[in-house]
Amino acid sequence: MNGQDADHRCATENNQTNHLLNRIVAEIQRFTEDQMKQIKRLTRIGTALSAEQNIERLFEMIIEEARKFTNADGGTLYIMSDDNRELQFAIVQTETLKIRMGGTGGKITWTPVRLYNADATPNHSNVSAYVALTGNIVNIPDVYASEGFDFKGTRSFDAQTGYRSKSMLVVPMKDHRNDIIGVLQLLNARGDSGKDVVPFTYESQEMTESLASLAAVALSNNRLIRELENLMESFIRAIAATIDEKSPYTGGHVRRVAELTMDIARKVNDMEQGSYAEVHFSDDELKELQIAAWLHDVGKITTPEYVIDKATKLETVYDGIELLRLRFALVGIQEEMRRLQCQRAPASDSGESNAVHAQLEDEFRFLYETNLGSERMSDEMMDHVRAIAARTCEVDGKQEALLTEKEVENLNIRQGTLNPAEREIVKNHAAVTHKILSQLPFPKKLRHVPEYAATHHEALNGKGYPRGLDAGQLSLQSRILAMADIFEALTAKDRPYAKARTLSEAMHIMSIMANDRHIDPGLFDLFKREGIYLDYARRELAPQQIDLPGV
Ligand SMILES: [Fe+2]
Ligand SMILES: [Fe+2]
Repeated sequence: MNGQDADHRCATENNQTNHLLNRIVAEIQRFTEDQMKQIKRLTRIGTALSAEQNIERLFEMIIEEARKFTNADGGTLYIMSDDNRELQFAIVQTETLKIRMGGTGGKITWTPVRLYNADATPNHSNVSAYVALTGNIVNIPDVYASEGFDFKGTRSFDAQTGYRSKSMLVVPMKDHRNDIIGVLQLLNARGDSGKDVVPFTYESQEMTESLASLAAVALSNNRLIRELENLMESFIRAIAATIDEKSPYTGGHVRRVAELTMDIARKVNDMEQGSYAEVHFSDDELKELQIAAWLHDVGKITTPEYVIDKATKLETVYDGIELLRLRFALVGIQEEMRRLQCQRAPASDSGESNAVHAQLEDEFRFLYETNLGSERMSDEMMDHVRAIAARTCEVDGKQEALLTEKEVENLNIRQGTLNPAEREIVKNHAAVTHKILSQLPFPKKLRHVPEYAATHHEALNGKGYPRGLDAGQLSLQSRILAMADIFEALTAKDRPYAKARTLSEAMHIMSIMANDRHIDPGLFDLFKREGIYLDYARRELAPQQIDLPGV
């Protein structure tokens, strides 16, 4: 070989090397670009998955994205049962058979895949159960030719539908703790023509694995949020039930108020005409109002039990009328003894003795009736209480008034059984509700809960409590809750201090309150016109209370 030939050969080899290098660089570039594209796609999917709050929609997105990635004709998403013993069908899709089941279309009722056999051994013959139990990925080019798994179910499905299941990729979904929370099964990857079924490539297997991890994180986040929400709601209901339990008479008050509040709010939402046509509470706003309703009386946790349902005027931890009964008996005995000592002639004075006893009996009966608080006290009745109180009895050799000042004050309560101090204690529960709830870090979408709950005794005319807010300061939600609370209280059965009113009496009182702008007249109009009170009466009132037509 001469020098020229050698130079030529060297140049050719250099060219070939350069060409090869260029090709390698181009391949690397293409590969990197592809990888970048896939990573970007995965990131986008990850963001979309974690933003989806609806779990059914999330299930659908997971399968749809996995199918797109791998160009798979079919896909099944299984979710692990709470007891980790079976896989439940969440989504089943097969494009060529036009099958779309589960997710937003409703639950799939197919029998779940059991992870353990009857003899408690792991069910490794079912490919999805195997993946769920071992965490391994299974990639099968043709299920009919594969060994080791039982595809009888797949074959019988094919026989019924004329489908041919071929390539299959089964990937576990592991959460942040590496627990398997579901299985992703993809069926029949299609080649570039879109018709031929080809095996799932290693790349698509890797990408599906990454997608399954993203999906698992999104799913477990979604679950965690729902579990926390459930826990919070159950906790709230438990607190409400505890407060209702403080009184045997108000049991169920909070539940009934919460349900009635929601009836009214949903009716406001339904209105297409009139003053509520433009109002639409979102699902989050409805939830916020419902939680406020469940918590509205939480402040009663600090109200003494005897005040919550003080049945008689003299009741504290026991009914003081029994003390009075004893004192009257004592006065009777003392009168008798005095008469015997002074006159020493009992037989001739039996008429006088009887008269004294009859008077004492009358006076005690009057005080007994007064103590019940069922009648409004007139000025004369109050004077009579004071006159009786002036009577004396001898205690430890001293003459003492028959009734204490406190007893006179209580018996002379003009209406009901609560004295002014006790009335303030009762009223204070609304302020305590605010105090308790405003300290809780409610999430943003529930941030109005303390406001709605703590304003349930406020009135549009500014005469409510605890803050005396006026119409401009009261939201529609607060007004709804306030009206529900009043209607429930008016119609409640079996309270010791107030008789259960009939439906017509309750509606009459409510109409007076609406005229006085104590409650919202527009809302009361809706309450009446749309028959919300009738639905409530059918559900909650005793038959003898229902005295209006239409129920
Ligand atoms: Fe209240
Ligand atoms: Fe209440």
